[in-house]
Amino acid sequence: MWHSQPWMMLMAILLSSSCLVITRGREGESGLVKTSVFLSPPFYLKPGSVKDKYYFDIPFPRGHIALKNFHAEVIDENQNSVPLHETYLHHWVVGRYFGGEGSIDDADYSKIILVRNSGPCRNLGQYFGLGSETRRTDTWVPDPYGIEVGNPTEIPEGYEERWLLNVHAIDTRGVEDRLGCTECKCDLYNVTADKYGRPLANGYVGGLYCCYDQTHCRVRGGYSGSVRKLYLKYTVKWVDWNPSIVPVKIHIFDVTDTGDHPSHSSTTNSQFSCKTEYKVPPCDSVGEENENCIDYRRTKVVLPHGGDIVYGVAHQHTGGRGSALYGEDGRLLCSSSPRYGNGEESGNEAGYIVGMSSCYPKPGSVSINDGELVTVVSNYSSAQMHTGVMGLFYILVAEPQTQQNALLSWGLAAPWFTELAGSWWVILFAGGIIAAVAAAIFLKRSENGGYQMVSTGLN
Ligand SMILES: *[C@@H]1O[C@H](CO)[C@@H](O)[C@H](O)[C@H]1NC(C)=O
Ligand SMILES: *[C@@H]1O[C@H](CO)[C@@H](O)[C@H](O)[C@H]1NC(C)=O
Repeated sequence: MWHSQPWMMLMAILLSSSCLVITRGREGESGLVKTSVFLSPPFYLKPGSVKDKYYFDIPFPRGHIALKNFHAEVIDENQNSVPLHETYLHHWVVGRYFGGEGSIDDADYSKIILVRNSGPCRNLGQYFGLGSETRRTDTWVPDPYGIEVGNPTEIPEGYEERWLLNVHAIDTRGVEDRLGCTECKCDLYNVTADKYGRPLANGYVGGLYCCYDQTHCRVRGGYSGSVRKLYLKYTVKWVDWNPSIVPVKIHIFDVTDTGDHPSHSSTTNSQFSCKTEYKVPPCDSVGEENENCIDYRRTKVVLPHGGDIVYGVAHQHTGGRGSALYGEDGRLLCSSSPRYGNGEESGNEAGYIVGMSSCYPKPGSVSINDGELVTVVSNYSSAQMHTGVMGLFYILVAEPQTQQNALLSWGLAAPWFTELAGSWWVILFAGGIIAAVAAAIFLKRSENGGYQMVSTGLN
């Protein structure tokens, strides 16, 4: 039926927000793994166009469960995978929040409570997120671990747990400069102001401020291509919660992090410590030597509460040459390298990062101490300039079991468990080159322009 009646299946999925649940015959230590496949609402792209959409209350497995895997890719209306050289998937991001029971206006951030991951970057609150590498990057959470969600004792009275999705895609069929369009070079988009009409910062030549929703990258003269109807197809694997599952915390580090995490109410956006995007200047050597030019970035970030690393993966854009995380004593915690495609087909597109290698340390073999200073490294080729690149590192950490309760209450009172009301983008913009990414959706601005701690009613 899936193949013979794709339309009806799509319609059924979209109209009922239902899903395919396939119970896999796999009995892991943590129980029977279930699989659901969902489609985002459709988005329409024509050559050169950009969609950056936010969807709230997306279909997602419900109940007290442990998430084991999250996979996503762009497909067309015939269920075919769409290659990156046609539709470049800049990123997709999935976030968790509590929305009012019966409420339908979750896009109003003053009415929802975002549930951030445990990492230090306040503007990177997502639970899951990848970009072009999505098809060939492992995201499986190994047994006996799981990402615990839907625990009824964590959901405030009058609220329900829900999920949001942000998809940012660029149609590069027939464009003059594919890499330039995917790197969001402002001149190719003929953009001189951000999406709120504010002029770009001096020296800002590329990044998310130039490829927001509805912008258009320059297409070759005479090229015409049809409008396409596309979906983000996402596959979630999970197990019902049971006490043998060891919960893990998600931490996302950013190589642009200045390590200064203000929690005070006078914080403005320019003080945001994670800029998400950066620019790689071209090196000045020439010829063969130039090919070996590396832009080497690193930063140090404190992890307040450590534990065992059970999974790790980096996120880089085209030009990426690898990323790593080191402990305070210099020991390697995890390294992750891009895999570039060398063909035409989806999942192997030449010149694109089609996968990132990930780490699965033997359980208990790689741990971070409480308060340890962790170094994040991100390398890019600087044989040519790159704009709007990223250097994120995502890890799952199992905190020592006996401290779970203490940590939970600490986590909820932590400065980054914040919720801010109002026009979050204002703050974002002030940061200069801050990526809107996912990011954006986890930020808000209070009326007096400062940040507020949220009383979540969870304590
Ligand atoms: C670029 O934008 C300016 C105004 O913002 C407009 O006048 C001009 O026609 C645009 N050029 C192209 C090629 O779209
Ligand atoms: C990054 O580049 C530096 C300098 O070339 C090199 O020493 C280091 O090993 C590289 N690290 C990774 C993770 O690729």
